[in-house]
Amino acid sequence: MTPRLGMHTLTAGRGLLFGGDYNPEQWPESVWTEDVELMRAAGVNLVTVGVFSWARLEPEPGARDFGWLDRVLGLLGDAGIAVDLATPTASPPPWLGHRWPETLPVDESGHRLWYGARNQFCPSSPVYRERALALVADLADRYAGHPALALWHVGNEYGQICHCDDSAAAFRAWLQNRYGDLDGLNEAWGTTFWSQRYSDWAEVITPRRAPYLINPTQLLDFRRFSSDALLAHYRAERDLLRARTPDTPVTTNFMGLFKPIDYWSWAPEEDLVSNDHYPDPADPLAPARTALVHDLMRGLGGGRPWMLMEQATAAVNWRPHNLPKPSGQLRLESLQAVARGADGLCYFQWRASRFGAERFHAAMLPHAGPDTRLHADVRAHGAELRRLAPIAGTTVPARVALVHDWASWWALDERGQPSDRLDPTDQLLSYYRPLWERGVAVDVVPPSAELSAYALVVVPNLYLISDADAASLTAYVRAGGVLVVGPYSGVVDPRAHVRTGRFPAPLREVLGASGEEWRPVPEDRPVPCRWSDGAAFAARTWTELVRSDGAEPVAAFTEGEPAGHPAVLRHRSGRGVAWYVATLPEQDALAELTARALADAGVTGVLPDVPPGVEAVRRGPALFLLNHGDDDADVPIPHRAEDLLTGTTAEGRITLAPRAVAVLRPLDTP
Ligand code: GAL
Ligand code: ZN
Repeated sequence: MTPRLGMHTLTAGRGLLFGGDYNPEQWPESVWTEDVELMRAAGVNLVTVGVFSWARLEPEPGARDFGWLDRVLGLLGDAGIAVDLATPTASPPPWLGHRWPETLPVDESGHRLWYGARNQFCPSSPVYRERALALVADLADRYAGHPALALWHVGNEYGQICHCDDSAAAFRAWLQNRYGDLDGLNEAWGTTFWSQRYSDWAEVITPRRAPYLINPTQLLDFRRFSSDALLAHYRAERDLLRARTPDTPVTTNFMGLFKPIDYWSWAPEEDLVSNDHYPDPADPLAPARTALVHDLMRGLGGGRPWMLMEQATAAVNWRPHNLPKPSGQLRLESLQAVARGADGLCYFQWRASRFGAERFHAAMLPHAGPDTRLHADVRAHGAELRRLAPIAGTTVPARVALVHDWASWWALDERGQPSDRLDPTDQLLSYYRPLWERGVAVDVVPPSAELSAYALVVVPNLYLISDADAASLTAYVRAGGVLVVGPYSGVVDPRAHVRTGRFPAPLREVLGASGEEWRPVPEDRPVPCRWSDGAAFAARTWTELVRSDGAEPVAAFTEGEPAGHPAVLRHRSGRGVAWYVATLPEQDALAELTARALADAGVTGVLPDVPPGVEAVRRGPALFLLNHGDDDADVPIPHRAEDLLTGTTAEGRITLAPRAVAVLRPLDTP
């Protein structure tokens, strides 16, 4: 079911959205007219305005200055450019922190963080909340019904964590709500350990810096609370906007696999999902990593189109050494987002700043002006996006689900584990890569997702799992699904208490296998393994002492103490199949395992053969082929097809130059 508001509210009559953050307050008004002319020439149809304009809109407490914004929205509206209007609450003016220092965030050492940068607010500060909401209400009242207003952009990249007294009080209230009374808290936190028992709520604090390892459940609950506290603030702003402009969709920009915020709980609170994504030009895994993040955004939106709110046309300024993008990369990255479900392709930012901390960050219009190679690329890209109008609103069908969970990530991120080298997001990428390389579409889903529509479900790691989610994975297999589970899964319950008995306790029946010891291994000593049909491979970092309780051992460790014990097992359970992987196989072996699991599931990629470096994905009517490699790629294609980008016809095969993209719509098929 399509909700009333969403990307379709914006793309109707506009096609794909193209634009960026626009910060006119950094420029004299004479520049604004040039901006708007250049935007039109570049095919810009949406800009985000006002993200950092609190001090301009409210120059002193309670004052209002909307005149300049009236003129900006007027200019944009007259030019037919839609506005994604931001609530300016991500960066309060100095007067807020100066007069009300309690609005400033406090770090885990108890030190206040000051103004002078941005994001300096406490999510639980009543003063911040009151001031922010008052301005948001006035902003919404002023621009409700404005013809340029198309979308609300609440705050910016929420992620603040605070340990102040207001935050501690809010944490206690959150805990009281979760556990009822102190007995409940003491039980959940396991406070008989190290004499941590609380005898009064007033003793309960946020996990401030402490002499040694902090209570793991306290840490986990603080992460849950911190995500919820920001969500509460977001919702307060959103509710004011919805009450005043019920027909304008609301979003806030996410940051991909961003640890502090549980986006599964946030996404349903938005009308559309938007994300900021800055692939590192120096990262050889960036194309797959980016695809994974895009698939996560599609998953967060329940499969519906989403929006790339920010990307960079060229180099960013916040890495230590900022590589530019090779020519062609700008459009390749943007079209990759389209291929994976984005209907909006926006940048940070429209015009490069002259001053401030981001003056060396690339923009759509560089310091050197419009007469530049970069701006020509921006214009060309804006123009070609018009040709992809038939893609807007379409979906990316997937039969494979990849499970990601924030609570489990948080819990595994804590110190005091057998190893700190099992990073759930690394595991997510390792299991994702072979699927991506084969052109198998993947939905990223939470552990609580309805799984029956998927032929294959991959769980690279679920260290923390609830009884209900374990039961759902089990039922999924019994009913005919194929499941792959990675190591160190099913270890703790939602309180981060160890599930005793042979592991993974809640999954061992469906896996037909169980273990008794986790055995990290030295990084410089890969573990030799062998498939039961002969080929050898290496694993690393982590092994488990596991036995079959009915599963077929399909690969085993071959040397050292674990020699002869299974490394990979496959179990027929009910009408389905469950795989357990008791180590971190090298990437080729993971590809082999993926091929076998896909065969069990009867899933194939969109093409029989995808050359290395090429990404192949079907969205709506079109097959997207993107060459991320540095060499020409020769790709066999199934049908005679029209390339929507060029209007040319392709048949049999297509050759893609490095960074080239084809968007093929089949011809002659019913
Ligand atoms: C984002 C942020 C933008 C800008 C950009 C630079 O994190 O939302 O305001 O700072 O990064 O890459
Ligand atoms: Zn605080």
